[in-house]
Amino acid sequence: MKVLITGANGMVARAAKEYCEKIGDDVAALTRAELDIADEAAVQAAVAELRPDAILNLAAFTDVDGAEAQVEACNAANVAGVRNLALAAVEHGVRFVTVSTDYVFSGEKEGFYTEDDLPEPKGVYAVSKYEGELAAAEANPEAVIVRSGWIYGRGGTNFLSVMHRLLGEGKAIKAISDAFGTPTYGADLARRMRELAATDFTGVIHVTNAGEGTSYAGFAKKLAELGGFDSDLIEEVSGETLKRPAPRPRNSRLASVREVKSLGALPDWEDALARFLLSEK
Ligand SMILES: NC(=O)c1ccc[n+]([C@@H]2O[C@H](COP(=O)([O-])OP(=O)(O)OC[C@H]3O[C@@H](n4cnc5c(N)ncnc54)[C@H](OP(=O)(O)O)[C@@H]3O)[C@@H](O)[C@H]2O)c1
Repeated sequence: MKVLITGANGMVARAAKEYCEKIGDDVAALTRAELDIADEAAVQAAVAELRPDAILNLAAFTDVDGAEAQVEACNAANVAGVRNLALAAVEHGVRFVTVSTDYVFSGEKEGFYTEDDLPEPKGVYAVSKYEGELAAAEANPEAVIVRSGWIYGRGGTNFLSVMHRLLGEGKAIKAISDAFGTPTYGADLARRMRELAATDFTGVIHVTNAGEGTSYAGFAKKLAELGGFDSDLIEEVSGETLKRPAPRPRNSRLASVREVKSLGALPDWEDALARFLLSEK
């Protein structure tokens, strides 16, 4: 398959490039400097020239707190950018797979959010991602919108991705014990996006590693256990003590009620975390 990957310097994009190349795809992975997805003409030109079979959109404005003060830039990538790609995909008969977030939910539900739950995003980033979902579906009824959450992986700069390094260096960390999510290894998410591109699935689908999910503190403790780090370095705190600009859902654990022929659940999050740790050695 010929695959166009956007946002190629990003954490999940790099994992997608690696996976697609490994299975023998012809991959065009374009960085933001090579393709700004907010630039409609550039998107049209790139898709017309490259003629991919599938687009995996991994470009996004992902600074959740920064988005509160950069609404325009956030919407340019997360709404207009997604629409531009969805439209170009329709015009050229290309499969389009894009990623959204668990943050589209308010976090007030107990248990897991499924695709049947109603989004109620709070904060600029969350709203932009939901509007991106709506823009993708409107522009391209065959779009695949993958909602995922708590993603970590090689080269990632978010807390989940760097925790093991901090613990490995003997640094104390504060980990929130009252926010819950379903951790997702970027490499597993990337593989599933490529697999979805090869199906005829359309619409929204939740993709996370399997299991009951955990809190940031639970994730940190599992890391300490699997990696042989000192768990005394982990201080459990309440999310409220961190005073961050953007709101975050208290509980954004995702589960899927969509069935895609030939695709089972992703591995359990603890198994995924062990593989991530091994890959970092
Ligand atoms: N990380 C998580 O926990 C999480 C959770 C749920 C959903 N997601 C979603 O998962 C996807 C991948 O996330 P990630 O963690 O891999 O993000 P990331 O590492 O921040 O990568 C995003 C990439 O997109 C690029 N980008 C930004 N604006 C662009 C534009 N207008 N045109 C082209 N490229 C642009 C960025 O380039 P610059 O660095 O140059 O800005 C960056 O390389 C995103 O859609 C994100 O919203 C992430």
